[in-house]
Amino acid sequence: MQSRRRLLACLRFLAAAPGGERHLSSTAAGSARAADGRLFNKLLVANRGEIAVRVMRTAKRLGIPTVAIYSEADAAAVHARYANEAVCVGPAASTASYLNIPAILAAMKQTGADAVHPGYGFLSENASFVEAVEGAGATFVGPPTYAVEKMGDKVESKKFAAAAQVNTIPGWAGVTENADHALTVAKDIGFPVMIKASAGGGGKGMRVAWSEKELREGYELCTQEAASAFGDSRMLIEKFIEQPRHIEIQVLGDKHGNVVYFPERECSIQRRNQKVIEEAPSPLVTPEMRRAMGEQAVALCKAVGYHSAGTVEFLANPQRQFYFLEMNTRLQVEHPITEMITGQDLVEHMLRVAAGQPLTVTQDQLLHCSGWAMECRVYAEDPARGFLPSIGRLQHYREPRGPSVRCDSGVQEGSEISMHYDPLISKLVTHGVDRQSALAGMRRALDSYVIRGVRHNATLLRSVLDVPQFVEGDLSTAFLAQHYPTPASSAPNRLPLSSQQADELLAMAAMLWVGKQRRLSSGGDVAQVQAETQLVLTMDEQQVPVTVRPAEARMVGAAATTTTSAAAATPPGGGGQALEVQLPHRIMYVRDCGTGNAQLVRAEVDGQAAVLQVLEAGPRQYALQHCGAQRVVQVDGVLAAQLARHMPVPHVEDFSKVIRSPMPGTLVSVTVKQGQRVAPGDEVAVVEAMKMRNVLRAEVDGVVGAVEAEAGAVVAADQVIVRFS
Ligand SMILES: *[C@@H]1O[C@H](CO)[C@@H](O)[C@H](O)[C@H]1NC(C)=O
Ligand SMILES: *[C@@H]1O[C@H](CO)[C@@H](O)[C@H](O)[C@H]1NC(C)=O
Repeated sequence: MQSRRRLLACLRFLAAAPGGERHLSSTAAGSARAADGRLFNKLLVANRGEIAVRVMRTAKRLGIPTVAIYSEADAAAVHARYANEAVCVGPAASTASYLNIPAILAAMKQTGADAVHPGYGFLSENASFVEAVEGAGATFVGPPTYAVEKMGDKVESKKFAAAAQVNTIPGWAGVTENADHALTVAKDIGFPVMIKASAGGGGKGMRVAWSEKELREGYELCTQEAASAFGDSRMLIEKFIEQPRHIEIQVLGDKHGNVVYFPERECSIQRRNQKVIEEAPSPLVTPEMRRAMGEQAVALCKAVGYHSAGTVEFLANPQRQFYFLEMNTRLQVEHPITEMITGQDLVEHMLRVAAGQPLTVTQDQLLHCSGWAMECRVYAEDPARGFLPSIGRLQHYREPRGPSVRCDSGVQEGSEISMHYDPLISKLVTHGVDRQSALAGMRRALDSYVIRGVRHNATLLRSVLDVPQFVEGDLSTAFLAQHYPTPASSAPNRLPLSSQQADELLAMAAMLWVGKQRRLSSGGDVAQVQAETQLVLTMDEQQVPVTVRPAEARMVGAAATTTTSAAAATPPGGGGQALEVQLPHRIMYVRDCGTGNAQLVRAEVDGQAAVLQVLEAGPRQYALQHCGAQRVVQVDGVLAAQLARHMPVPHVEDFSKVIRSPMPGTLVSVTVKQGQRVAPGDEVAVVEAMKMRNVLRAEVDGVVGAVEAEAGAVVAADQVIVRFS
């Protein structure tokens, strides 16, 4: 019965993707607030993008009408159209719209909304917003003001944690006064140390320092970042735990003093302290460790009188010691993986708790979770340019589907990724009976995820899934920095292909070319492409001689040149001709199974399903993506390949001669002057975009020839800031 309910809850999520949602009625009966037994009359969601859509999906299922707020830039956004009503709350800048408390209160009044869900980010952890909502007579779907205030302050929350007997990291239990004081503290606890903004979150205002020099530099940058992002530049210093793993406990409390914990999530794959891949449960955690972490998390919640959903974050070392990091008093980005393994809808629980109902799950129920779930955060950003946002229109966009795939997004084909907001495209979640099957599902899902028009990190995410340490569950928050140390190493065209994957890619490229020849000659001489074709494929500057022949030639005999035998090799269910591709050291059998769209090719390679992405198709050249790696494959007849060797090599710009702005933003400072000598790694300029400060550094020794932009200027992507002579 229990597992059946869990399964049903899971299925409801899967059925309720935006665009294809069904209105399923809720099973549990609740204490009525609204006249007809609904929990609330109307729910306003004070957020945008995927989380707004996700919250509304549950509200709709529970029969609660929804109100969206949107900025002028988001008038056509999916979340605004998904709601029953939508109200514009101001111009594009989030300070003028999604953070504009008076405008949001006015939208509540205008629509008669009696409850507000804040999502995550924006006003979700803002105590004044909670007070304003409640002051206006509505219900805030989240924790009480007191808990938001106490846990929102890193110093206060650490004191609370220590008092509630939660393990804490050695460090300075207060705010540092200035860089000198920070240095004294750092020397006291010993390097490496972590510098963190007291009001921080999302990796902003946070840096590790391994030396005095790094401490001073990092302190300066963090203070500035924190001041601009949070209007609060207070800093903390604590011991930095090496090879740390980020493990967190989802908690849920009601207004009657009951608190339960869920099985942990591990979020160790991070870039600059931003989570990238999460999974539940964690490969590290034992049942004893889970219970210890869970009980500490519950103790902390009880100490601050917590209700609603929240997350207690810990750092753990490989010896399974764990330390309190912080508590997030909101629904987390990565909450879906917890929902997938427990079958619980956290947003539904938040709404019920907010309406005053007691918890409808027991601790015992939550510890019997099923299977494994994994989440990848797909961002519109450019890993090859230091992970800066990539803005533009989604020209082609197709989300993966499947029985165990959940894709939470707030975009669709044609949507604009704007520079005003977080560049998250979607959260891709897969579920499986165990870690290996969730992982295999994630590989398939990422392989068939079509995103064109913006640069994104899905290729890198896919590449991570093949790294042996990741496969073994040997994770740490330093994983990405260790495996992809430079921007170049994470560029899609430099991501590695195993020799098996490279062979598959070549065989499928040959298949595409042969398929095209057949279409070109269709109605004409089919026999021509039925015969043996000799090709030379060029990839990664290697020329590979390849022979392609119809697979039935080998199976039915050399004379298989009639359309009848070609049809015989095409299994029912459609798809192309089966081909035998002879590579220098092996033979592969491939068949194009077709998808009906030009961006994606489904194929069968040696009997296994494979997905190939076609980024560009020229007359003799393909830009292809396989297992996250992008490669250009040139297809030539034997003679053409010999000639190509004598072609001139195209000129490539020498990037060591200029410093360009990697993205649109504001030039905060230029550190160098004309005539100044710089060494590799020296700071040249600082560009701020999306509230992140990015230090641009010299790559080689040089002398500044000209400074072409001034501090304060708005700079475009690729605009030259400094030229070396
Ligand atoms: C809450 O949000 C308002 C509006 O953005 C902002 O002025 C205020 O500083 C925020 N307060 C906290 C505690 O974050
Ligand atoms: C994906 O984007 C996020 C957000 O910018 C970033 O932190 C992360 O590192 C990117 N992905 C990978 C695999 O690095």
